[in-house]
Amino acid sequence: MKEKLNEILIAAKEEIGKVESLHELQQVKSKYLGKKSVLNGLMRKIGTLPKAERPKFGQTVNTAKADISKLIQNKQQDIKTKEYADKLESESIDISMPGRRKEVGSLHPITKVMREIEDIFISMGFEIAEGPDVEDEAHNFDALNTPEDHPARDLSDTFYIDDDVLLRTQTSTVQIRVMENHKPPIKIISPGSCYRNENDASHSPMFHQVEALVVDEGVTFVDLRDMLKIFVKKMFGEKIDSRIRPHFFPFTEPSAEIDIVCVKCYGKGCNLCKGSGWLEMGGAGMVDPNVFDRLGIDSEKFTGYAFGLGIDRIAMLKYKIPDMRMLFENDIRFLKQF
Ligand code: PHE
Repeated sequence: MKEKLNEILIAAKEEIGKVESLHELQQVKSKYLGKKSVLNGLMRKIGTLPKAERPKFGQTVNTAKADISKLIQNKQQDIKTKEYADKLESESIDISMPGRRKEVGSLHPITKVMREIEDIFISMGFEIAEGPDVEDEAHNFDALNTPEDHPARDLSDTFYIDDDVLLRTQTSTVQIRVMENHKPPIKIISPGSCYRNENDASHSPMFHQVEALVVDEGVTFVDLRDMLKIFVKKMFGEKIDSRIRPHFFPFTEPSAEIDIVCVKCYGKGCNLCKGSGWLEMGGAGMVDPNVFDRLGIDSEKFTGYAFGLGIDRIAMLKYKIPDMRMLFENDIRFLKQF
């Protein structure tokens, strides 16, 4: 019996010595110490021994079990220590190596200018309104009093998605959406993208406008003119005056075009303003009563003004960008400068 135990001990020692992983060790453990192990088998035979030998036998088997158990425990500790050391080794970092620089982006010049414009108008009590880029003819043309045969409706000027669905050509659509849902007093601006079939140094197929709409009792053309003057000065500086010139838009009456003093020559005349001293900035006017009537707003009681400014033009002047298309080429070398 003693011999048998010794053999088992030697075999166990050898097997435990060869084990390399905790998983294998678990298998060895159940082989020698588990319910179905050889040692347990021996223990079960205790009943067949003469009474006097039983305690001694039991003790010997238990000692063997304890020895094996100790070996397994030690091995387990060894494996864990080794795994930890391996992990440290494989995950080690060389803290003397130079770091990898994370590229930090910058805001797009249009985003910057848009935010600046929003801040100026918010400081004067305007709220920001938004509308969809994909619009219907009703909001882009009909509700804006644009006749069926107006050239702007032409396929050559407007990107149509379907018969009645198009990419908005102006942010004036948002005027309509706001007036559909809110009674006066109204005081909003709406910055956003617009789309027209044009592409040259001062026109991009996608561009940006900011629309303003103020509707209340007693709003006048002078309020419009003064608001524009204040905005232009806040945006470009005290030296930059603005003026309005008669024009035509279907949805405003009277209508005007907005000019600002040339930011390069301050009105003397230069290549930027083509000698005129003035730069075109957008359109404006008093909301046409026809527009109010369609929306059920009492045009006897309320008056309002609206204007639309080109954000891309403002950005070009502010950052001295010669070609509008540069804004949308996504050339990192260009965009990094802002
Ligand atoms: N939406 C007009 C345009 O894109 C500009 C405009 C806005 C005119 C508001 C009058 C009032 O040309």
